[in-house]
Amino acid sequence: TVGNSTNIVWHKCSVEKSDRQELLGQKGCVIWITGLSGSGKSTLACALCRGLHARGKLTYILDGDNVRHGLNRDLSFKAEDRAENIRRIGEVAKLFADAGVICIASLISPYRKDRDACRALLPDGAFIEVFMDVPLQVCEARDPKGLYKLARAGKIKGFTGIDDPYEPPLNSEIVLHQKVGLCDSPHALAETVISYLEEKGYLE
Ligand code: PPS
Repeated sequence: TVGNSTNIVWHKCSVEKSDRQELLGQKGCVIWITGLSGSGKSTLACALCRGLHARGKLTYILDGDNVRHGLNRDLSFKAEDRAENIRRIGEVAKLFADAGVICIASLISPYRKDRDACRALLPDGAFIEVFMDVPLQVCEARDPKGLYKLARAGKIKGFTGIDDPYEPPLNSEIVLHQKVGLCDSPHALAETVISYLEEKGYLE
């Protein structure tokens, strides 16, 4: 039995992941960017996408906010819906990685166990967690969408970092620290991630 289904059998094709990777000249993987709202996840995802594209590498971004416009439009921000949001994005990211794509998932993903469940879906090393380690104070001062203001005013309930939890990763592959008055450019942050990918052989 697989999930709720019985009598289903995996069908294998003679064109395999290794063939697709060879075609693309890269290795499929998932770069999972986690952090508070306003920590710069989407900005990093985009800079990373630009940097890799310029090097001739195929990427695709799965952004929490964007996927919630379609595939995940039925989900709210309560804990079990966030878990389902992350589970679905994890499964889709796994398919992209299997396609040979460098898949960039950027979503708050506030619970450690949900992120770790996505990590467990991928081959060893292919889930690269990037923690945007940005103090709440900095995110709140940026408040790009005005959501912190609404949360503080009690107009949004269960907002991450205000009245909903965020569990920082304990063992991320990459931690990007930003401090009050000391923030690196998105380009510089993206280069840090690209260097990591180069070092681990994902760009060949
Ligand atoms: S999660 O926790 O991973 O399921 O969240 P995600 O899919 O990344 O969506 C986060 C964006 O939704 C907006 N938003 C909220 N965020 C946190 N808490 C609450 N209650 C909430 N309501 C709406 C917000 O714009 C987040 O965008 P980012 O890009 O993170 O700022």
